Amino acid sequence: MKPKVLIGVTGCIAAYKAADIVSQLVKTNCDVRVIMTESATKFVAPLTFAALTQKKVITSTFPDTASGEKDVIYPHLYPATEADAFVVVPATANSVAKLAHGMGDDIVSCSALSLKSDCKRIFCPAMNFQMWEQPVVQDNVHKLLQYGWHQVGPEKGRMACGTSGFGRLSTQTVITQIILNSVL
Ligand SMILES: Cc1cc2nc3c(=O)[nH]c(=O)nc-3n(C[C@H](O)[C@H](O)[C@H](O)COP(=O)(O)O)c2cc1C
Repeated sequence: MKPKVLIGVTGCIAAYKAADIVSQLVKTNCDVRVIMTESATKFVAPLTFAALTQKKVITSTFPDTASGEKDVIYPHLYPATEADAFVVVPATANSVAKLAHGMGDDIVSCSALSLKSDCKRIFCPAMNFQMWEQPVVQDNVHKLLQYGWHQVGPEKGRMACGTSGFGRLSTQTVITQIILNSVL
């Protein structure tokens, strides 16, 4: 059986890099589904991920119609409850905070509340270094680690906003390999 990997994309510039990761996972024979926050859809079109996975991309907790497949009626439960790995990439400061506090007011944070107990939970932060250094952000990161999440990055380097420091998303190759190691 193909490992089921659920990718949660949140809203920042590095969102386009998630497309590369999804593509690599599909090529490596993973069963990949993508869910996106509303903010993420402002950076990358859901169609990009739909085309790469050949599967519907979920962007809302509330379905347009109340009939059809189970992921249409209960998007907060499916595909989350079936995932072998859940990867939030990139993970914004906002989404890290929501995940750390058990909030569920968007499809990515709500799906995190529906994962099975042995699902691998991975988050890959990406943000300006001043955001990354905020004590409240660091507290939220530590909270996620305490809940058993695995952190990948960020790395030091130049960021899209023109500054340098810790906050760059880890490379697509590194993130893909860590995901594969977690499910294969
Ligand atoms: C151009 C632009 C770039 C942004 N880049 C980041 C970023 O790299 N990291 C981050 O945490 N937030 C970033 N933000 C702010 C988030 O988009 C904002 O906090 C949003 O509410 C996150 O929503 P989400 O976590 O639901 O996806 C950026 C916003 C804009 C307009």
